[in-house]
Amino acid sequence: MSLVHEVDYGTPLSKSETMVTLTIDGQEITVPEGTSIMRAAMEMGTQIPKLCATDMMDAWGSCRMCLVEIEGRNGTPASCTTPVAPGIKVKTQTPRLAEIRKGVMELYISDHPLDCLTCAANGDCELQDMAGAVGLREVRYGYEGDNHLGLDKDTSNPYFTFDTSKCIVCSRCVRACEEVQGTFALTISGRGFESRVSPGMNEAFFDSECVSCGACVQACPTATLTENKVIEIGQPEHSVVTTCAYCGVGCAFKAEMRGEEVVRMVPYKDGKANRGHSCVKGRFAWGYATHKERILKPMIRSKITDPWKEVSWEEAIAYTASEFKRIQAKHGKASIGGITSSRCTNEETYLVQKLIRGGFGNNNVDTCARVCHSPTGYGLGQTFGTSAGTQDFDSVEDSDVIVVIGANPTDGHPVFGSRMKKRLREGARLIVIDPRKTDIVRTPHVEADYHLPLLPGTNVAILTAMAHVIVTEGLVAEDYVRERCDWDEFQNWAAFVADPRHSPEAVEQYTGVPAELVRGAARLYATGGNGAIYYGLGVTEHSQGSTTVMAIANLAMATGNIGRRGVGVNPLRGQNNVQGSCDMGSFPHELPGYRHIAGDEVRHAFEELWGVQLDKEPGLRIPNMLDAAVEGSFLGLYVQGEDIVQSDPDTKHVTAGLAAMECVVVQDLFLNETANYAHVFLPGSSFLEKDGTFTNAERRIQRVRKVMSPKAGYADWEITLLIAEAMGFPMPYEHPSQIMDEIARLTPSFAGVSYEKLERDGSVQWPCNDKAPEGTPIMHIDHFVRGKGRFMVTEYVPTDERTGARFPLLLTTGRILSQYNVGAQTRRTENSLWHEEDVLEIHPHDAEQRGVREGDWVRLESRSGSTSLRATITDRVAPGVVYTTFHHPSTQANVITTDYSDWATNCPEYKVTAVQVMPSNGPTEWQNEYATMAMNSRRIAAE
Ligand code: SF4
Ligand code: SF4
Ligand code: SF4
Ligand code: FES
Repeated sequence: MSLVHEVDYGTPLSKSETMVTLTIDGQEITVPEGTSIMRAAMEMGTQIPKLCATDMMDAWGSCRMCLVEIEGRNGTPASCTTPVAPGIKVKTQTPRLAEIRKGVMELYISDHPLDCLTCAANGDCELQDMAGAVGLREVRYGYEGDNHLGLDKDTSNPYFTFDTSKCIVCSRCVRACEEVQGTFALTISGRGFESRVSPGMNEAFFDSECVSCGACVQACPTATLTENKVIEIGQPEHSVVTTCAYCGVGCAFKAEMRGEEVVRMVPYKDGKANRGHSCVKGRFAWGYATHKERILKPMIRSKITDPWKEVSWEEAIAYTASEFKRIQAKHGKASIGGITSSRCTNEETYLVQKLIRGGFGNNNVDTCARVCHSPTGYGLGQTFGTSAGTQDFDSVEDSDVIVVIGANPTDGHPVFGSRMKKRLREGARLIVIDPRKTDIVRTPHVEADYHLPLLPGTNVAILTAMAHVIVTEGLVAEDYVRERCDWDEFQNWAAFVADPRHSPEAVEQYTGVPAELVRGAARLYATGGNGAIYYGLGVTEHSQGSTTVMAIANLAMATGNIGRRGVGVNPLRGQNNVQGSCDMGSFPHELPGYRHIAGDEVRHAFEELWGVQLDKEPGLRIPNMLDAAVEGSFLGLYVQGEDIVQSDPDTKHVTAGLAAMECVVVQDLFLNETANYAHVFLPGSSFLEKDGTFTNAERRIQRVRKVMSPKAGYADWEITLLIAEAMGFPMPYEHPSQIMDEIARLTPSFAGVSYEKLERDGSVQWPCNDKAPEGTPIMHIDHFVRGKGRFMVTEYVPTDERTGARFPLLLTTGRILSQYNVGAQTRRTENSLWHEEDVLEIHPHDAEQRGVREGDWVRLESRSGSTSLRATITDRVAPGVVYTTFHHPSTQANVITTDYSDWATNCPEYKVTAVQVMPSNGPTEWQNEYATMAMNSRRIAAE
């Protein structure tokens, strides 16, 4: 294995379809119009010296290294900023060019420390390479005059160092921050000799607007911006391409290694989801994989009040199987079940559901998608016929109007958020429907045309009101609807939404959004060109989550915004493999590929291959498993890579259910909150320790590749195999590729997927089969998967969770950039420096009424429970609305949330809880008890 080096073409690819032929150094080449001479040369293998150019950004033309001569033209133009032209003859190497380049390089080097041998970038420095390329052998100017060699280093960022003494002021970092990331955190301050790169107004990186995405570090051609790990341990010696294990964007990375130690994660330019960009989590927050709190030995205990006992793998697995068998013998087959993980690979998820259906003999399998995107599955399944986003991420480049509903892409899906911001800077219009003024509402050079700050819980009312405007103002794309959708159902729906009770004026009383804003947004979406909708958990985690998804689909169909680039309906999936865990049959009623377990033909195909008879009755969902546990009929649970105590609603009910069980098996990296109720702990493996695939939010299947041996001895898929064997249902696979082969054999939308194909093509978007051998970037092009698109009537039914005198405020929850989900991984990295604790956002008016000041401890109380946390006063939330994140178990925002859930899927209503906020002196009693318990468990694990 060696380092994977990606070619830097110097300037971005031109997408023109007009081709231009020119001659470079006597060789003819044909390239798209708009291509730079530098890129054209690189495409034929000639590297023109460069310093300020890189293909991730537009050319800048400042360093003067890339000069060329063009026959018949005066001067020596920069090849990075000069586009090709038909018939021109270019020379890249002449004595005159060599002399100029050498002179320029000499000037750079005369103000650069000559410590190459001890420099962290030695061997990975473009300045060093270019000095070699131009043949610089001596520097005639000494260091006696003014120079920058004594400038201080900025070490404020925990992940990278900024050593200004090595800066050549090429602006690549500044442009990366602007063009790639869209944060505009860096500037060049001063002029001439005094020019310096500066975060903000000469702030330290950590105190600036910088979000630590790493784009500037990657762009820097010198050692000025360098990862601390490289400084600490040196340059990597080999790399392995793999996929980020945090969010549903699915960024591809090169894991650059020294032996089995990760030196850095470098975003992979060939990654089709991220195109060479990253966020702070995937780029830097991987240290949790080797964190000292990882549990590396299996443990068992007979009661959850007993101390853990370390045992061998054999004993842990035998104990698990004997307990599950004992419970089933006494209480029946249906008394145990399992939960698959959206953080694990497709293959691992497939195996867990196979174990449960085939080995446990029931369909009691569910997944965390239950608590996030199950309404997407239902809503899009009903309207379009399949349960997934319609577009690839590239599609946003052709959007004219972008609608963001209940999603916070700059925090939750940062790399896609950057791509979206780029399109918005190019002129696309923006509608944001969200109770909070999220960052996308107003960010550098981007301002939403409409922000509809609706009251939590009123999504359906707003979307139906938008539909009312579209129908009553004659903005329906009638030709599209007649051709592509069921016309009778459309008419039925149109009559429903046209009712005056759905007008923006009529619903204003529930939504709190001025009618004119709703009318303006609806007109813009319907008439502004390609309209694309992106939505998140602010849509699904409601009692009407499925209805809202259908209301979104209705809007898209009515305006003809489905089936081509630039449009579509796109759920921004939360976890790295939540799409995959749903695809792989993690729901109690569905086999892989979203096929109902009651369907004889499909079930028989699985029975035949697995050699076992399957139950045709759907099994229990997570909330039903917990109910049954409390009632005494469900006693055993295998939880792979999920922390339901922290992530599921109504914590008291979850813990009561778990505490009532006789054998809870938790397989995870750390002793998570659920492990407090476990009898068996099986040490899991991180994404760095296994092979497999993840499927991202755009249905893209990508390889996860093992870069180090499993720390505890087994990858997660191997542990499931051990349990299956011990349960008497052996599943003999030697490699995850064989599991994928089986998935492809049994699942029509995966029929063309194999590891060979993924090796060859990098990734593929399902459906991938005979009809679509190269996969399906955009769905529903000629017709909907279900045939005719189906409009669904979306009656607004207010949630039962109401505010009143006792609980007058509405709590809604969400994520922050630096932390991820329940924080098990990110809290164990330096990302916590940015977000050490969950805080409560409260509007100044509500804070003043309660005597709450910035930073005060407040008690947050609902009908379900209470917790304490610090308050921050902000108008990001409207009066009457408060907001917090749920990353820290010491706060456990889900103690507050209720057990209301989506009518169709049981997805919990996390986004609406009636609460009261009052000043408090500090943590509540349970939080203090929790702190003690957590400390004890860590101590026990350590012992
Ligand atoms: S790390 Fe990202 S956000 Fe921070 S300065 Fe660099 S490019 Fe900008
Ligand atoms: S920090 Fe690096 S990328 Fe930025 S101007 Fe200096 S040398 Fe160029
Ligand atoms: S955007 Fe998501 S997938 Fe990409 S690096 Fe960040 S967390 Fe990982
Ligand atoms: S690379 Fe062309 S001017 Fe710098």
